[in-house]
Amino acid sequence: MSIRLPGLIDPHVHLREPGATHKEDWDTGTAAALAGGFTAVLAMPNTRPAITDPATLDLALRAAESKARCDYAQYLGAGPDNLRHLDALAPSTAGLKMYLDQTYGPLRLDRMELWMEHFRRWPRGSPIVAHAEARTLAAVILLAAIYDRPLHLAHVSLREEILLIRAAKERGLKITCEVAPHHLFLTQEDIPRLGGGRSEVRPRLASPADRDALWENLAVIDCFATDHAPHTPAEKDGQDPPPGFPGLETALPLLLSAVHQGRLTLADVVLRMHTNPKKIFALPEQPETWIEVDEDAAWEIQAAHLFTRCGWTPFEGWQVRGRVRRVALRGQEVYRDGKVLALPGSGKNLRAAQPAKHI
Ligand code: DOR
Ligand code: ZN
Repeated sequence: MSIRLPGLIDPHVHLREPGATHKEDWDTGTAAALAGGFTAVLAMPNTRPAITDPATLDLALRAAESKARCDYAQYLGAGPDNLRHLDALAPSTAGLKMYLDQTYGPLRLDRMELWMEHFRRWPRGSPIVAHAEARTLAAVILLAAIYDRPLHLAHVSLREEILLIRAAKERGLKITCEVAPHHLFLTQEDIPRLGGGRSEVRPRLASPADRDALWENLAVIDCFATDHAPHTPAEKDGQDPPPGFPGLETALPLLLSAVHQGRLTLADVVLRMHTNPKKIFALPEQPETWIEVDEDAAWEIQAAHLFTRCGWTPFEGWQVRGRVRRVALRGQEVYRDGKVLALPGSGKNLRAAQPAKHI
């Protein structure tokens, strides 16, 4: 049966432009988004150069303006020397991204004093997102409490993390979090099958007990975010493989397959892939925007049919149920039956006209 859902919003994607367009760019990444049912994506700042100041933000936004096929906003990275720019740039960004743990790219911040300065100075109306694992997660939750401001936690993967977030929420802290589909559907047990380089991702694939804890604490999970992190097969199979999986085109089918199996409901999916990300990131309404999904369509995931430029997926050969048939964005048909119809540059910057509302 075909059903209509609101356009999905992915608050966590890596589109690689500027600097690594052989992996992905604003054109192919947003084409992949539409094919996956996403009508809006929030792009991470760990590009080359990283997006930390007016010049680099402008570079990314100019590429997006000419190439994006879906709506978008761009994060600013918290860097060691960009405190003076925060006030002026915040309204034009999706939010501030703080890398506090092992990651890909140059943005990792080790000095806690810098974390504190960013919490103190980032304008209150705009979101802060942290990549923080295990005890670092506890530390950054403490900062959110001290500075009394909302904090969104990226790609939670461990049992101890989801339990900590549950406890923080019960205490009334303004914490929200996202989980990536790969941490719901893959574990360390998949590493031999995927191969060492291909299975590299940060946070790492965790244990089956960690994965089970995520499913058991679905109520604590605010968003499903792909952490779409494309790298080429040659890079993944080479020396020093970079961490990351593409995910834009596999997230919804994997979750709809889980709906089919009775592991969650369609309402659970819509809440975490539309309603909550829209609210947490104070995104404007996308009028006349919807996706049409064939809930029952059974198909096999094959990298050869994906729009992402990276050319592989950790879910190769998986049998899934649920397929995106059509996507409408602001009244235009932008995807239909395997074809992206939106033109490069037709996507809109969701932070262009209006600054972030108070959250
Ligand atoms: O696996 C990851 N890939 N984790 C990160 O933190 C960064 C991302 C990337 O940009 O490739
Ligand atoms: Zn990421």
